[in-house]
Amino acid sequence: MLRTHNCGQLRLENDKQEITLAGWVHRRRDHGGLIFIDLRDRWGLTQVVFDPAIEATAHDLASSLRNEYVIQVTGLVRRRPPEQDNPNIATGQIEIEAHNLKILNTAKTPPFDINKEVAVDETMRLRYRYLDLRRERMQRNIILRHNVVRYIRNFLSDEGFVEIETPILFKTTPEGARDYLVPSRVHAGKFYALPQSPQQLKQLIMVAGYDRYFQIARCFRDEDQRGDRQPEFTQLDMEMSFIDREDIMALIERLMIGLAENNSAKRILHKPFPRLTYQEALARFGRDNPDIRFGLELSDISPLVANSGFKVFSDVIASGGLIKGLNGTGLGSYSRKQLDELTDFVKGFGAKGLAWLKVEADPEKGVKVGASSFAKFLSAEETEAIMKQLKGQPNDLLLFVADKAEITNESLSRLRLEIGQRLGLRDDSVLAFCWVIDFPFVLWNEDEKRWDPCHHLFTSPMNEDIPLLDTNPGQARGKQYDLVLNGYEVAGGSIRIHQRELQEKVFGLIGLDIEDAKQRFGHMLEAFQYGTPPHGGIAPGIDRLVMLLAGEPNIREVIAFPKSQSATDMMAGAPTDVSEEQLKELHIRLR
Ligand code: AMO
Ligand code: AMP
Repeated sequence: MLRTHNCGQLRLENDKQEITLAGWVHRRRDHGGLIFIDLRDRWGLTQVVFDPAIEATAHDLASSLRNEYVIQVTGLVRRRPPEQDNPNIATGQIEIEAHNLKILNTAKTPPFDINKEVAVDETMRLRYRYLDLRRERMQRNIILRHNVVRYIRNFLSDEGFVEIETPILFKTTPEGARDYLVPSRVHAGKFYALPQSPQQLKQLIMVAGYDRYFQIARCFRDEDQRGDRQPEFTQLDMEMSFIDREDIMALIERLMIGLAENNSAKRILHKPFPRLTYQEALARFGRDNPDIRFGLELSDISPLVANSGFKVFSDVIASGGLIKGLNGTGLGSYSRKQLDELTDFVKGFGAKGLAWLKVEADPEKGVKVGASSFAKFLSAEETEAIMKQLKGQPNDLLLFVADKAEITNESLSRLRLEIGQRLGLRDDSVLAFCWVIDFPFVLWNEDEKRWDPCHHLFTSPMNEDIPLLDTNPGQARGKQYDLVLNGYEVAGGSIRIHQRELQEKVFGLIGLDIEDAKQRFGHMLEAFQYGTPPHGGIAPGIDRLVMLLAGEPNIREVIAFPKSQSATDMMAGAPTDVSEEQLKELHIRLR
């Protein structure tokens, strides 16, 4: 070993010991003859003092040190003069009196500061990721990620789960995103697909009788990037046999509570996790991944204004739309400019406008209509009913969108999050888990005029809803469950179809003709004939989970080498051109 201790290890009880440390020069300060170095490794910082009166050679060499040089120092641990204690670091009561210094390596000046928590352009961070990863914040996140995965592995192993690896070079999988394809050299014109998840393989592992499977699985999806989406990401992929929905939900709940309590100082807001049906989530929060850390719930006012004189409202109702509102509590003092900002905000999500109403105090009735963009078109009864339903108090700002249901829900749910943020209601020290259940089995795809699975092809419909598949598929519910944390979907899963007949029926419903289905999923249909146990599973997204535990704003902060927004690796420069030779071997000609 090139060292006796690490840079976060030494304490007062090591006083007067001769030690050797190795690490990076975090900071150098020259103080009238003395040179102070903060020496850093991933365990911490230790102060090293070079005193010309004690070791002139070492001191001379120390004056050539620059930030990020890699050095080895031998010396004596000594107590710091008490007034120089640094309570901010674990080694803050001691320092090293340096006797010998060896420069193990020099370093160019880094393109950004590593020793300060300052904002650095993300392009730079990704370009020099290995330097970014040296910074404390990233080290904290990456180590947290390791601890989370370790906790998961131990927990599930103790519960009788077997970790099994599944192939990366596989066949198209049905998670609904675009596949990444890999051309085959051996089979001209044929392609592997990288798995969007190990979905089919984990079901086949159940057919094979392993009973409880998990994997820390890399998944690949070619879809538009967002803060919570990467083209390759990691799932805790799980599957269990002979269980029902309650069993999986109970197990995951125990896992998540243990995980959070052992790896984060954040408080879990609700135990047990509340459950919302899909319809309830949509009604109250406008989306199926609600942030339930705060209220500001949406309220359907369609029945109150269906016959109103306000054309914007009555037209939307007449064409089958939805009018909802939310109470921007205490925002009655918003200026015209701020209201315009909120209007632009909802327009960004497709809304045509934002109707607003300020509530004022009334000596007799308690509240009355103040300034409003639309109240003049309504009767007094109508505005009173609206204020009552939204629990308007003096100085509240009531906000409404009228549109097709999807747009009303999407734009108002975004506005709810925005206002929650502005009001400081999205408390970062809290973890608000909830389950969303009773999803629709299929959703109508207007563009392609067909039913799409709400989850994926292998999710089972509710037993009692199977007859609806023939008569009214839109009303059927699936055995799907999602786990939501602080407004992010952190896990999705379902009880699966385990009978071939039902699976074929579902293929038919979503317009996959049987030949096509056999071509893509023949191995599944075949396997299902050989004694398939009832089974189900779930897949928590590790990146999102760690992001939320770490309190980070996007998953790139918890991935060592993430892709940029445009799905490129800025450090290595991937994707790249390839040689004519390689293309030829793969039987590919570029256009
Ligand atoms: P699903 O598609 O819901 O289910 O994915 C499960 C979880 O994976 C995470 N996730 C992502 N994280 C980062 N970047 C992405 N592009 C991304 N896509 C998904 C989310 C999500 O909740 N095979 C099923 C699981 C099952 O049925 O057991 C599946 O993949 O946190
Ligand atoms: P107008 O009569 O068009 O000036 O609209 C009156 C108010 O209704 C304005 O505040 C508009 O922003 C708002 N508004 C217009 N269309 C909608 C809509 N689809 N949903 C909610 N408010 C709207």
